Amino acid sequence: MLNKKKILLGVSGGIAAYKTAQLIRNFTKAGAEVRVVMTPAATSFIGPLTLSTLSKNKVHTQFFDKESGEWSNHVELALWADLVVIAPATSNTLAEMANGLCSNLLLATYLSAKSEVYVAPAMDLDMAHHPSLLRNLEQLERDGVQIIPSEEGELASGLVGKGRMAEPEHIQSFIENRLKQQQDFTGKTILVNAGPTHEPIDPVRFIGNRSTGKMGVAIANEFATRGASVHLVLGPTSHSFTFHPNVEITRIETAHDMYSACAKTFPLCDVAVLSAAVADFTPETKSDKKIKKTSNSLVLDLVKTPDTLAELGKIKKNNQYLVGFALETDNELENAKGKLSRKNLDLIVLNSLQHKGAGFGHDTNKVSTIDKSGEICTFDLKSKTQVARDIVNKLKEIITK
Ligand code: CTP
Repeated sequence: MLNKKKILLGVSGGIAAYKTAQLIRNFTKAGAEVRVVMTPAATSFIGPLTLSTLSKNKVHTQFFDKESGEWSNHVELALWADLVVIAPATSNTLAEMANGLCSNLLLATYLSAKSEVYVAPAMDLDMAHHPSLLRNLEQLERDGVQIIPSEEGELASGLVGKGRMAEPEHIQSFIENRLKQQQDFTGKTILVNAGPTHEPIDPVRFIGNRSTGKMGVAIANEFATRGASVHLVLGPTSHSFTFHPNVEITRIETAHDMYSACAKTFPLCDVAVLSAAVADFTPETKSDKKIKKTSNSLVLDLVKTPDTLAELGKIKKNNQYLVGFALETDNELENAKGKLSRKNLDLIVLNSLQHKGAGFGHDTNKVSTIDKSGEICTFDLKSKTQVARDIVNKLKEIITK
């Protein structure tokens, strides 16, 4: 996968910088051409001479070389690259990247890059869990940066835990897997729905729920990154998103609108993933005028809404795949399995409500998947972007079985 690829390796100032020597060896052995940009701090951890010898290219550390008077053209460097890999990515560099700062050549190059960018975070235990770091990583994921998860082990401080930069061979295999996946849904048309629905009571009030649509949008973006044309039917969320250009969006309001939009598109699709938190009931009548506070109690008659997922399950053809979500508070697995068979699904994703950091509104989620054969896969608590990748990978396994 890396043969003839042009890799720009950005090295920032952490102890793991010494491992970039091995990383360059691995990349070049795999047939890649490597150029290196270092932050000034990185040069204290490993010498530019080592990296220029291994990469067989000049190493860039400054905007200007004072001795030769030469300028390191960060735009040219960034546009040269097929991929940018920043390893190690320190807490400081990640914070600067997430905020668009440009205080060194590595950051200027990142800001000029048009290719895929991977970062391999490296830091000590408590820094790796600090909310500011998690916020910066989330921002970088939203900006399209791929995060190579850090690993557990002994840290420079002597503490043991998560925070070490991924080993060079793991960085390489992560990138190779992503490159393999990149076009594996090319030519496929995918329907995804996401977000809540709002069921109007009167002109100013509605029945809604806490869904933001983050999980479904992450799934839509993941399919699109992997080459698919994606139709996203999105409920009324106030969250602002970045969408991949292959994602076409239809905004809807109610459960009825959700059903109509999905039923219209589904026959054209190879796969549908329905993650929306659709209201199960809607007011039987909507008042044209604002309901006044004239009595001490108010009774609303609610009627069932169409179950979009169940309806698509009824018309699903043999060459189509349908994925649903389940949010359960008790008998989680049994209830999810029941939904899988009742709604004629190929895969169901069970959202956990038991874990802090999972579910509505969070940037992270913890899910299990269950397929038709009853096979259960339980995943760790991860960012919703990474959970989306797990779900799409699982579906890929089912399609290619
Ligand atoms: N769903 C749907 N239309 C509805 C209700 C749910 O398409 N009117 C879909 C959701 O998008 C999700 C799945 O059905 O993929 C399961 O939703 P969930 O709320 O967990 O279950 P319900 O089917 O509503 O059943 P219950 O409320 O009894 O748990």
